Amino acid sequence: MSGKKEIVMSGIRPTGFLHLGNYFGAIRNYVRMQEDFDCYFMVADLHSLTTHPDTKQLKANVHRVLAENIACGLDPDKVALYCQSHVYETSELYLYLNMLAYKGELEKTTTFKDKVRQNPENVNAGLLTYPVLQAADIILHRAKYVPVGKDQEQHLEMARNYVNRFNHRYGKVFPEPLAFNYGSNLVKVPSLDGTGKMSKSENQNATLYLADEDDVIRKKVMKAKTDAGPAEPNTPKPDYIENIFDLMRLVSSEEVIGKFEQDYNSCAIRYGDMKKQLAEDMVNFISPIRNKVNAILNDEKYLRLVMEQGAEKARISAKATMLLVREVMGLNYF
Ligand code: TYM
Repeated sequence: MSGKKEIVMSGIRPTGFLHLGNYFGAIRNYVRMQEDFDCYFMVADLHSLTTHPDTKQLKANVHRVLAENIACGLDPDKVALYCQSHVYETSELYLYLNMLAYKGELEKTTTFKDKVRQNPENVNAGLLTYPVLQAADIILHRAKYVPVGKDQEQHLEMARNYVNRFNHRYGKVFPEPLAFNYGSNLVKVPSLDGTGKMSKSENQNATLYLADEDDVIRKKVMKAKTDAGPAEPNTPKPDYIENIFDLMRLVSSEEVIGKFEQDYNSCAIRYGDMKKQLAEDMVNFISPIRNKVNAILNDEKYLRLVMEQGAEKARISAKATMLLVREVMGLNYF
């Protein structure tokens, strides 16, 4: 890492197959940012333990996330691509930040409330302090930009709070990290059924995964909710129709999108045709990535090398930050 470029950090939990939301919210940005920034991208395996205590699948999932990132264009020689648990300094910083995080605000976090609702049997302290660990990941490298989807906005706001509290109490060590997306607004890729966002573990029939086979992609897209079409020209689109247009904007050509916009506005739209087109464009987008993932996954030696090399780069930056942290905190007694 050159030390001169601005620093970028982000992570993905290994809790299942990656999907179009992960790609367009996060990975697409990673791939562009690797050219111009010092980038630290990691597989957030510690975070996954907050909701997935069973670790039988963890190794395979970690390998998959690494392979999927590389297949999407991330170059392990240009960035630090590593596994969260391999950089022990993360856990140390997490501990210090926990003393600056208050129970009341953690309990109000949207993702915490969602997780409590989904799994009331396992409301553990790690889940409550999830955003603190995420802040530690980011500021461990003193990162300024954090490429993420819209769902992570609140976590970034919390990270800025911890940074400000730390800097104020002990001395200015950290910059305020900002959520980042090329093209201003953070992205939320909707699910195909119009009821939420694409997700690794929920809503699987309405989520397009980078691992989906062509016929699965076609089936999922064709099932997307539509209606009889607008009765009046230039009617505002219902959410579930806007979602289909949104998905088309991610993978289809401007010409194709323009045609269906025009058909919609003149009440001539045939949703069957639109979905067929979208399905083919999705297949063309996903299938090359899927094929590359499978090839990379077969090379376990290469993946181990990537992880080792990534952890080494990440540790250099982490160690430098922690020296400063311990010093300003007054923890250097020697
Ligand atoms: P995770 O694993 O849920 O998601 C990984 C990335 O994908 C984005 N994303 C989406 N973007 C748009 N539309 C969607 N439907 C969609 N679904 C997911 C997420 O915003 C994220 O950028 N807490 C993080 C992992 C994490 C992290 C970090 C992120 C741990 N430490 C440090 C940034 C920095 C998470 O659960 O992401």
